[in-house]
Amino acid sequence: MKFLVAAIVLCIVHTACGGNDIESVFGDFKVSPRQDLPFLELANYDGYTAEQHFVTTKDGYILSLFRLPIQKSCETSKGVIMFMHGLYLSGDDCLIPGPGKAHCYVYSDNCYDVWVPNVRGNFYSRNHTTLNPDRDSKFWDFSVDEQAVLDLPAAIDYVLLETKESQLSYVAHSQGVSMLLILCAKKPEYNDKIKVGFGLSPTAWLDHSRFIVIQLQSIIAPGLTLTGPLLNLEVLKRGGLVQNSAELLCGTTSLAYPFCSILVFAVLGYNKFQITDDVLPVVVGHTPSGTSLKNFIRWGQIQNNGFSEYDYGVLRNVATYGTAKPPLYDLSGVTMPWVFLGSENDYVANVTDIKLLQSKLQKSSLCVLSDKTFGHLDFIYGKDIPNYLTPIVLSYLETGSYTCT
Ligand SMILES: *[C@@H]1O[C@H](CO)[C@@H](O)[C@H](O)[C@H]1NC(C)=O
Ligand SMILES: *[C@@H]1O[C@H](CO)[C@@H](O)[C@H](O)[C@H]1NC(C)=O
Repeated sequence: MKFLVAAIVLCIVHTACGGNDIESVFGDFKVSPRQDLPFLELANYDGYTAEQHFVTTKDGYILSLFRLPIQKSCETSKGVIMFMHGLYLSGDDCLIPGPGKAHCYVYSDNCYDVWVPNVRGNFYSRNHTTLNPDRDSKFWDFSVDEQAVLDLPAAIDYVLLETKESQLSYVAHSQGVSMLLILCAKKPEYNDKIKVGFGLSPTAWLDHSRFIVIQLQSIIAPGLTLTGPLLNLEVLKRGGLVQNSAELLCGTTSLAYPFCSILVFAVLGYNKFQITDDVLPVVVGHTPSGTSLKNFIRWGQIQNNGFSEYDYGVLRNVATYGTAKPPLYDLSGVTMPWVFLGSENDYVANVTDIKLLQSKLQKSSLCVLSDKTFGHLDFIYGKDIPNYLTPIVLSYLETGSYTCT
C-alpha cells in the first residue's frame, strides 16, 4: 500500500514533466505581479507598512520576524497577534491571498499589532552567528523540537519586550500549532504569555492522516532514524530543488509554474474551489520555503509513534527515555486556552485526531467548518478565510466567544 503511494507521487511528477500539454493541466495560467515578492515588498505592494526584525536564539540561529505595525487610522492597539506558519512554509502565508482575505491583513485592518516569526532554516531564517547554512551541515541539525523550545520562546519574548505587553494571542497553521503545544508542555511558564491559541488545521497526532507525503515520510522514517548526521541536509528550499528542477525538466520559466504548482500541491494538497486563479501563482512563487531533512523525517516519526518525543532508535531511546519507543509528549502542562479550526476534508489534520488532541488539553474548543471542501492549505490561502476563519479569531478576542459556521 505504502509503495503504491510512493509510485503515485512519482507518477504525478512524471506526468507533470513528461506531458506535452502542460498548460492544459491548469488552463491558461496567469502570472501575477505579486508572485515573487518577499514579505516586505509584498506588504508594501498591497498598501501596508511592514518591518523586519531579527532575533537570535540561545543556540545562535538568527530568525527573521516581520511586523505589520498598528495602522495610523487606529486609535489604540487592540493587542498583539502572532502568526506562526507551518512546515516547509513561511510567514508569507499570512499575506498571500491579499488584502481583505489574508490573515495578517485582516488582523491589521482590525487594529492588532501583527508579528510574524519565521522558524530556523526557512527562506527568511537561513542565518546563524557561527554556522553557514550553505557550508556547515550542522546548521541543518534540527527538527520541530528545536523550533518549539528555542525559536518560539525567543520570538515570543522579543515581541513582548518590544511591545511592552504581557501577553499575545497566537494564530498558527499546522506545525505552528504543534510548536506551541510542545513549548507549553516543556516550559509551562509560557502558558502565561499566551492569551489564547487559534489552531488552524492543527497537527499533533496524525493517526488518521491520509496525506500522501506524510505517508511517505513515515515509510522512510524508521530507516533514517539511526543515521543521524546524514539527516543534516536542507530540503524543499525556496528557489531550490523544486523550482530549479522544474526549470530544468520543464524548460521555460513560464512552464515551470504549472509544474511547480503540481509538485507543491502534491506535497501540500490542492483545492481548486478555494485557491483562486489570481492567488495560485502567488502560492507557487512562495512555496515551499525549506526545512531540514531531519524535520521532514521527524513528521514521519510522529505519524508512526503518535505525538511523541524524538525517536533515536531503540538503543538511544532506552538510554535517553528508558523505553524502546519514545514517550508521548506530556501535554498536562498545557494550561492556556485553545480554539481549533478543522475541516472534514483535511487530509493532514483529521478531525478524529484533533479530537484526540483535545482530550489531552484542559481548555480547548473545536470548530469543524460546515464547508466540507476546505483542505489543509485553504486555512491560509483560501478565498473564504474572511468568511469562516478570521471572524472566529476577532470575535473570540473581543467577546470571549464565537460562532462556528
Ligand atoms: C544574518 O544576520 C546578520 C546579523 O543580524 C545580518 O547582518 C545579515 O545580513 C544576515 N544575513 C542574511 C543572509 O540574512
Ligand atoms: C479521517 O479519518 C476517518 C477515520 O479513519 C476517515 O474515515 C476519513 O476519511 C478521514 N478524513 C480525511 C479527510 O482523510
